[in-house]
Amino acid sequence: MIAIPYLTALTTYFSYGLLFVFGQIRDLFSKIFDWWSSNNLQGYAPICLGLEDFYIRRLYLRIQDCFGRPISSAPDAWFDIVERYSNDNNKTLIRTSKLTRCLNLGSYNYLGFAAADEYCTPRAIQSLKKYSASTCSSRVYGGTTVLHNDLEESVAKFVGKPAAIVFGMGYVTNSAILPVLMGKGDLIISDSLNHNSIVNGARGSGATIRVFQHNTSSHLEEVLREQIAEGQPRTHRPWKKIMVIVEGIYSMEGEIGKLPEILAICKKYKAYTYLDEAHSIGAVGKTGRGVCELLGVDTADVDVMMGTFTKSFGSCGGYIAGSKELIQYLKYTCPAHLYATSISPPAAEQIISAIRVILGEDGSSRGAQKLARIRENSNFFRSALQKMGFEVLGDNDSPVMPIMLYNPAKIPAFSRECLKQNVAIVTVAFPATPLLLARARICISASHSKEDLIKALEVISRVGDLVGIKYFPAEPNKQQQDGRVKLE
Ligand SMILES: Cc1ncc(COP(=O)(O)O)c(C=O)c1O
Repeated sequence: MIAIPYLTALTTYFSYGLLFVFGQIRDLFSKIFDWWSSNNLQGYAPICLGLEDFYIRRLYLRIQDCFGRPISSAPDAWFDIVERYSNDNNKTLIRTSKLTRCLNLGSYNYLGFAAADEYCTPRAIQSLKKYSASTCSSRVYGGTTVLHNDLEESVAKFVGKPAAIVFGMGYVTNSAILPVLMGKGDLIISDSLNHNSIVNGARGSGATIRVFQHNTSSHLEEVLREQIAEGQPRTHRPWKKIMVIVEGIYSMEGEIGKLPEILAICKKYKAYTYLDEAHSIGAVGKTGRGVCELLGVDTADVDVMMGTFTKSFGSCGGYIAGSKELIQYLKYTCPAHLYATSISPPAAEQIISAIRVILGEDGSSRGAQKLARIRENSNFFRSALQKMGFEVLGDNDSPVMPIMLYNPAKIPAFSRECLKQNVAIVTVAFPATPLLLARARICISASHSKEDLIKALEVISRVGDLVGIKYFPAEPNKQQQDGRVKLE
């Protein structure tokens, strides 16, 4: 739970209020102008309507240079950002041919596999030559290569489940699988901060959806008891089945899910569990096997294990791992398996090779070193930010660390000032977060060196002072010495 300081809440509301009022006045004038110049829609209703359209036009476009910055290299520890400019107050951004080399604190490149890797890259290139970039077919027709079968076997083995099925996109994995597993008469109980792909999958399933307070097992129990007692709406028949959906690491909070407590409650009430490990698989746990390994949970206790290959494995796609019967059923019924083109062969090879490196099957200890590095880097960085007085969300060991900004004016100020000093940081605001809870989200990588982290801390500290986002007093004698961040 995030407690916003009163003054910050007040100034944030005031800033949004001001933007809203000015936006509405500008909209009113443009409507009058359209009417005056007969620039109307000739009987059609406007295709984009509503508050979200207003938000995009009057708030987002003003700061859109902070989002969707094109890059011109692999998303390694350092990368090239393409410079853009605007001649119309940011409504359109024009790309230049100039590049800025920046320290990358935004990509989900947790283990550093997103850049050229001595083991993975030659194998991915080889598979590109052998199989081409696309199978041009869905899995059930010509889209299953031996790589796809190998990938499913290695994923199942890696996550500790009897079988797995893979998809070309992580988002689709959630949004297409949930409607297959759940339907009318079923109940989904979802963590309030679950990812949008889960929300859309749950909505598309037609099941009844109830939400429990983020990561709060006592509230989950309350909701479960109440729903089991009430049963289905109107008929009050018992639910056909109940599924609780949680994440391993929450992508906007950096928090590790309280899996043992949640699983104990699910067991007590005979509810199935669905765990999304997009940000935790490969990134945490002694051998990179995610939150189950980190928190000492037996994977047999999680019914459906979902994850993506877009973070720790430096590739694309997603997986579902579970019992043989479940995976077989999904292969016969899931539209994303039956009708969508299968995952690209070089992307599949990249994942197989990355898993081999993580497990040391490449004959080196690079995997173990990467895992040690991401943990060390994350814990060092989080603790340094906290000592400086930033409000940092999330748990130790998590490579995701949001720094709270709150005020809308601080979003572009923080992002642009960091960029000026060659540090690229992702800022996140509504609708990805609640309106008042805008933040910068740092993703740490095993490929960051100590020097990279020190540079990042120096820049963030300077910009933090300038923008005024150090909401807590800094810890005395623990940081700036001679203008440098002190390291233990
Ligand atoms: C928790 C969670 N699930 C699913 C996804 C979607 O994965 P992808 O980006 O691989 O499509 C994301 C994306 O970041 C995520 O954070």
